[in-house]
Amino acid sequence: MAENFQVAIDGPASAGKSTIAKILATDFKYVYVDTGAMYRAITLAAKKAGLAYEEEKKIIALLPQITIRFEPDPLMQRVFLNGEEVTDDIRSTEITNNVSLVSSYAAIREDLVKRQRSIADSQNVIMDGRDIGTTVLPNAQVKIFLVASVSERAERRYKENIAKGMTTNLADLKADIEMRDYKDSHRKISPLVQAKDAILVDTTGQKIEDVVSEITKIIKNNQYQ
Ligand code: CDP
Ligand code: CDP
Repeated sequence: MAENFQVAIDGPASAGKSTIAKILATDFKYVYVDTGAMYRAITLAAKKAGLAYEEEKKIIALLPQITIRFEPDPLMQRVFLNGEEVTDDIRSTEITNNVSLVSSYAAIREDLVKRQRSIADSQNVIMDGRDIGTTVLPNAQVKIFLVASVSERAERRYKENIAKGMTTNLADLKADIEMRDYKDSHRKISPLVQAKDAILVDTTGQKIEDVVSEITKIIKNNQYQ
């Protein structure tokens, strides 16, 4: 088992992974790694290179030149692609609707899993995504599988979009989330699935602070074992 402490948080879209992981990382002074942002950054790199998202080989050929860097920020983690800030650009509807396709390519996953493991090798981390407990950090001391009903997840995204001043539609958001969950759960490599040793945390109807305190207890219980 790794000497440093690893917390893996997996689950479907909008379950609250990044919100909860960021708070826990601040509380425990661990490094937060948003692996979804890494897949989104590669998807954006393909767009910037003028490639169609179906052009698997050409997207893979971009990988050696791509750098992805995170900068912690009190409000939101800032993301840089090849030195340029892309924090907002990676969350556009176009990137959101194509990231599941790009993240289904084996060589993309292999490359990003290596980068994710190398971050977690040398420091305490809280990493969120879809395959952290199953593939990226199979020896993580704490594995959480965070879920919530699809209606509640769509409503959370809806409120978030309204707060950002984005035009948004609840039915479309729900359909997009269902489609992405389906693609993420049915891909051949590292599908979204609860690791056998992960703890299921259902956040439906739960406030953020209640989820944080539940997972805080789980982490503390495992820290002293
Ligand atoms: O925050 P949200 O739930 O919208 O998604 P995200 O965590 O930003 O991840 C975006 C997409 O990247 C997911 O829908 C997956 O297709 C992909 N992803 C993945 O395949 N493996 C991961 N470890 C993280 C994300
Ligand atoms: O990272 P992931 O896609 O799993 O979800 P997120 O971006 O952390 O959360 C989606 C939205 O749900 C955010 O606006 C959170 O503030 C909100 N949320 C909530 O209302 N209640 C929770 N228990 C967790 C998240």
